[in-house]
Amino acid sequence: MTDRVESYIDANQDRFIEELTEFMRFPSVSAQRAHDGDTRACAEWVTRHLQGLGFSAGLQDVGGQPIVKAWKKGKSSKRVMIYGHYDVQPEDPLDEWKTPPFEPTIRDGILYGRGATDDKGQVWTHIKAVESLLKTEGELPCEVLFLLEGEEESGGDALARFVRQAAGTPDLPAPDVIVISDSTMYDANTPAITYGLRGIIALEFTIRGPASDVHSGAYGGGVANPAMVAAQMLAACVAPDGKILVPHFYDDVVPLQDWEREGFAKLDFDEQAMAKELNVPRLHGEVGYSALERLWARPTFEVNGIFGGYQGQRSKTIIPASATAKITCRLVSNQDPDRIRDLVMEHLRSVCPKTVRMEINDFGTSPPVLFDVNNPTIQAAREALHKGFGQEAVFIRCGGSIPVVSTFAEQLGCPVILMGFGLDSDGPHGPNEHFSLDSFVKGTKAAAHMFSMI
Ligand code: BES
Ligand code: MN
Ligand code: MN
Repeated sequence: MTDRVESYIDANQDRFIEELTEFMRFPSVSAQRAHDGDTRACAEWVTRHLQGLGFSAGLQDVGGQPIVKAWKKGKSSKRVMIYGHYDVQPEDPLDEWKTPPFEPTIRDGILYGRGATDDKGQVWTHIKAVESLLKTEGELPCEVLFLLEGEEESGGDALARFVRQAAGTPDLPAPDVIVISDSTMYDANTPAITYGLRGIIALEFTIRGPASDVHSGAYGGGVANPAMVAAQMLAACVAPDGKILVPHFYDDVVPLQDWEREGFAKLDFDEQAMAKELNVPRLHGEVGYSALERLWARPTFEVNGIFGGYQGQRSKTIIPASATAKITCRLVSNQDPDRIRDLVMEHLRSVCPKTVRMEINDFGTSPPVLFDVNNPTIQAAREALHKGFGQEAVFIRCGGSIPVVSTFAEQLGCPVILMGFGLDSDGPHGPNEHFSLDSFVKGTKAAAHMFSMI
């Protein structure tokens, strides 16, 4: 790749960022039906933008939110597929945003707004990398195929269904490599290749006691309290030392390899700094593992929400009629999400007392992935990151999940490279989500190098 590409990126970065803010103005919140029109409008906008760059592009409708598919031939016959998502999480809590979530704003070299880092800003690096290659070199170094989904954030499976039905047909020609920027760097200066993502299961259980809230003096001591039952059941799921108590939960967990433990230790992660960032007295997690090991390579059992009974001011003397706990487990290879979901449900049933009724709702599952780092495309991506960021890239795993990735690995059978440009501290899913413009520019350069080196 000639130096002209990087110069083009430098010279045009203000416009790139201006366009990115236009992309972020669409409230493409896939979880909310009221935003279906905005989500589609956003997909159409990206499609038109890619057409403007000379791509053959259109929407694939397979039910659910539309998929943006765009492709363009290049100098070599190698085909690089770029995956990303144009949908975003809901904006709440709205009153904690310093500037409105869908009115992107730059403060001190940082772009604020929903989707800045997850994932519109990261998707934009690849789109602007192909523009920069086309405008300076006249053609792409390889064939590029974009597949951008609109329901990553809401548990949809439109893209997985499309991939399963189209893999191997002209609708989805087999890529040589899949590149994804929807994860994080190790820190603000250290780019990374992520070789493992956690999977997830999500469910809730509701404990029902008396037909309605009843007087705790009249009935207290005589009947089970659903909120207390829910608390005791949760306590039977995870021990204070962080070990999950669901029988057979750990059976299929691939243990950390020596090279990983050594590699993670070398990263010299500052656990104190993380405690400080989160404003907690100290960190917590499964005994016997460092924080990075727990975050990246160990499964978890989390309560996402627990409610029931009186939530108002002062006190109210009742036994609540019901209590609910929302739970997610993050999974690691080779845990099978369906099996783990069944084990968790079975355990909940076995620890639920006969004095109450329980209802369980399943909100879906997605498998973990773990990739072999020893392949030439990963080495090429590492070099591309080095060139774009001026720093050697490290190998990391990430705690988050990208559900469709396991379907890619299974159906398309080519290497998958996760090279993310975000940071956990960018506030994805929360208020004041942001993305460093420096990372945006360096990420765009790294992406351009990557296309040229594959
Ligand atoms: N981009 C994230 C996943 C991620 C976060 C990967 C941090 C690596 C590091 C993705 O958009 C996401 O939020 N996924 C959800 C999936 C869930 C809704 C099934 C997640 O991980 O909670
Ligand atoms: Mn994402
Ligand atoms: Mn997300």
